[in-house]
Amino acid sequence: MGRTIGIVSLKGGVGKTTIVSALGGAFARLGKKVLLVDGNLSSPNLGLHLNIIDPEKTLHDILNRNVKVRQAIQPYRGFDVLPASVFSKVEVNPLKLKDHLKNIKRAYDLIVIDSSPSLNEETLGVILASDEILVVTTPDHPTMSTSLKAAKLAKQRGTPISGIIVNKVHKKDFELSVSDIESTMDIPVLAVIPHDLDVLRALSNMEPSTNYNPDSEGSEEIMKLAASLIGEKYRKNSFRNLFNNLFPTRQDINREIFYKKVFR
Ligand SMILES: Nc1ncnc2c1ncn2[C@@H]1O[C@H](COP(=O)(O)OP(=O)(O)OP(=O)(O)O)[C@@H](O)[C@H]1O
Ligand SMILES: [Mg+2]
Repeated sequence: MGRTIGIVSLKGGVGKTTIVSALGGAFARLGKKVLLVDGNLSSPNLGLHLNIIDPEKTLHDILNRNVKVRQAIQPYRGFDVLPASVFSKVEVNPLKLKDHLKNIKRAYDLIVIDSSPSLNEETLGVILASDEILVVTTPDHPTMSTSLKAAKLAKQRGTPISGIIVNKVHKKDFELSVSDIESTMDIPVLAVIPHDLDVLRALSNMEPSTNYNPDSEGSEEIMKLAASLIGEKYRKNSFRNLFNNLFPTRQDINREIFYKKVFR
């Protein structure tokens, strides 16, 4: 039975869609059957990250008409995508997402859902359709305060929050540190992804950053996150990884705790 992971934040541009796409590439590399779902119904763009420009059938058709989920699923390299419609003007009920995904959960190991940046029914629909949530933030106060709101919403709705992904990190003193973020949010940070031009290059190539440059620091963080989410250890003989094994970062330790808590 597929595990459904919602990627949320209540701020635009923090990197939700980028991370959903990168996780697709990472889970596929780990041999898992994964479906990425565009739950950002009002301004969807997961398809545009993955070279799916104008799909014939979309999540809008599923929520709006009697199109079966399977009819709108498209294969990408190693994983599947359920795109939403960039052009649709029809009103749909995002709260029905959970019911529709129920029908295909058995066909996947993991379903990763992208979400809207607004505090609206779309975000709620994703939270309700998810077995667990990962909250994305950037290391600054305004974004963290909106991330707190997203975490509160998930808590109110009883969806467990597995952790925080800190994205677009410049490694500057003025940024919030991992411990600042953890102590304010009271949620463990499971991945820290640097701001990296290769992520933008991957976007212009319409492919996941984990495919475009699998050896970058950010891609390795996503691989480690994906591995710990499925109870596996990420082993790679890179200098960075060997160094990390000797001097683990805060998020390395959090991933280890997560792995032991969930899988042992
Ligand atoms: N780690 C990173 N380094 C550099 N650029 C990044 C990184 N992560 C994301 N970006 C870029 O930031 C921009 C916004 O990313 P993305 O569309 O994933 O954000 P989002 O949270 O999904 O936004 P929205 O809520 O509007 O859908 C994109 O151009 C993306 O390539
Ligand atoms: Mg997005």
